[in-house]
Amino acid sequence: MEVLILEENVFDDTAADIAFAQLKKKPHSTIGFATGNTTVGFHKSLVKKILDEKIDKTKFSTFNLDEYVGVSSKDPASCYFRMEEQFFKPLQLGKDQINFLNDISEQEDLQLRCTQFDQRIEECGGIDLQFLGIGLNGHIGFNEPGTAFETNTHVVDIALHTRESKISVFGSLDKVPKQGVTMGIKSIMMAKKIVLLAKGESKADIIVKALAGPVTKDVPASVLQLHPNLVVVLDQAAAQILP
Ligand code: F6R
Repeated sequence: MEVLILEENVFDDTAADIAFAQLKKKPHSTIGFATGNTTVGFHKSLVKKILDEKIDKTKFSTFNLDEYVGVSSKDPASCYFRMEEQFFKPLQLGKDQINFLNDISEQEDLQLRCTQFDQRIEECGGIDLQFLGIGLNGHIGFNEPGTAFETNTHVVDIALHTRESKISVFGSLDKVPKQGVTMGIKSIMMAKKIVLLAKGESKADIIVKALAGPVTKDVPASVLQLHPNLVVVLDQAAAQILP
């Protein structure tokens, strides 16, 4: 594992440099993205680099980790909407470049959509580079504590703790969906390289548990210790109690 502890002002550019280097090395790369507060600046910085350097932006494919069930991609609270605003639209990516579990209604066969998503990852030759954020309880994607490490993409009941943390996005707790779909821990761990991003003091405790504690289902991100090609990008606040 490589751990980079950075000044706040270079955090986003450093994450973007990692993605950009991957695209330069392999224009047909598949890159996995996460939404949330941590990744907003990284996405912005990556868009700027791709546009400034004028590299071919029609060849790579994106996969996103997760989405709420029953939330339209036109809803600003959806993961899709946020990715569209932050990344897909500014780069004018083609629809065929974007792989997303979006616009999933409660009525459809949720598990079928999940299985098709894993098949699509396989068809694309696997994910070359997967970016992750981390929840305060150690979740990655929507894989909450207790999730088996062998899970493929699947349907989840979102933990109350996580739903409460999304009140600011949806307006009130009753509007935060109770279900989501997420790449599973196995699907994530199959990525050839993983970059875990964490910013801010609130993440300091969980970063210690995830990176220096026992590998356990109780802290889903701890599984990343077993990945052969993991880079962790932290700001100083998130790294402050790391041994
Ligand atoms: C979202 C996702 C989540 C977030 C995590 C951290 O696609 O995968 O696991 O990465 O909830 O969110 P922020 O960055 O808002 O603290």
